[in-house]
Amino acid sequence: MPFYQRLGDVPKKRHVVFRENGTLLTEEVMGFEGFSGLESILYHLHSPCRVIELGEFEPIVREEWVPDAHAHRHFTTWDVPAGGNAIDGRRLLMWNDDVEISLCRPTEPMEHFFRNGEGDEVIFVHRGAGTVETTFGDLPYAPGDYVVIPRGTTYRFVPDADEQRYLVFETPGLITIPKRYRNEHGQLMEHAPYYHRDLHAPTELHTHRDRGEHVVKVRVRGGYQTYVLDYHPFDVVGWDGYVYPWTFSIHDFEPITGRIHMPPPSHQTFQGPNFVICSFCPRKLDFDPDAVPIPYHHSNLQSEEMIYYVDGNFSSRKGIEVGSITLHPSGLPHGPQPGLAEKSLGLTETHELAVMCDTFHPLRLTALAGDLDDGRYAYSWAEDPSTDGRTPDEDPAGVTSHL
Ligand SMILES: [Fe+2]
Repeated sequence: MPFYQRLGDVPKKRHVVFRENGTLLTEEVMGFEGFSGLESILYHLHSPCRVIELGEFEPIVREEWVPDAHAHRHFTTWDVPAGGNAIDGRRLLMWNDDVEISLCRPTEPMEHFFRNGEGDEVIFVHRGAGTVETTFGDLPYAPGDYVVIPRGTTYRFVPDADEQRYLVFETPGLITIPKRYRNEHGQLMEHAPYYHRDLHAPTELHTHRDRGEHVVKVRVRGGYQTYVLDYHPFDVVGWDGYVYPWTFSIHDFEPITGRIHMPPPSHQTFQGPNFVICSFCPRKLDFDPDAVPIPYHHSNLQSEEMIYYVDGNFSSRKGIEVGSITLHPSGLPHGPQPGLAEKSLGLTETHELAVMCDTFHPLRLTALAGDLDDGRYAYSWAEDPSTDGRTPDEDPAGVTSHL
């Protein structure tokens, strides 16, 4: 999506004869919005329609948790059960019609290939490294990477031996780079917090010629349809275009800072339909002598604000820790807990790392979210640190630059 790429062999012109060892290759145009959106053209050894067996259809079943009270929530996810592979190990936490947000701690290899036929995916890699093998070639990933996979991409995760932990976003819409970062030709402009060099396309294309049974699971129509092929689905000899999976590291996000507080849109990384994904990265804080370096109270009257805490110094009495998720739902004000604004005065930098997703329609919660809810966060603005024998200065609450 970010810019034109080409890997392997493609003919000089589109839609002309292209052979390998005398065999006519199968050309596939894979694109969006009819034939008006971005597209890539792939050249296969076999027809991508070819299947030898239609397997099971497994509908997606969501177990909803409807809390008794509408309130700010804090979910502690570090110990969310590990298991499954990079697809069936996804544990849904919250969702609406625009986005689904899951956690995944896979422990098993993918024995099958996967394709999301009804949505784009962004997989934030909190822990672990490896390679996403795809129709478009190999995509290495490392901690801190956002792996962006457009719908229609057949892939499988091949993790290395380390612990893997992902935060997964799936959307029926398109994941894009915010329009305000790009000029009319699509190039990222000077004020954008990242540049094309920071976006990484597949590095190597391996054309698999092996036959035999290969299983592909495709997410379609609210479930997973299994297909059996008699060839390896990575049979592409070359492709070019604007549609392909890519990675961007949160560590390459260049924070935008100001004399006084910069609002959350300055942290925006991706755009989806009715939601945004933002990156909060280590940076210098506001430098006016009178600046309050942490946010003012704000009312998310039309949006839900979900923050996943990746790393940093936000250990606090609220219990915020690595792997915590806070959810500030629409209709309620939120802001720093008592004492934190005062405590932040004079601070010059923050070392936090967090991923935020703001949705413009309400999020629904799953039973798993109910299990992980600490049940206390809504009262954290009413707590007084001195009641446990500490003064506000002794309170270990971390000063985050977003709340
Ligand atoms: Fe907020």
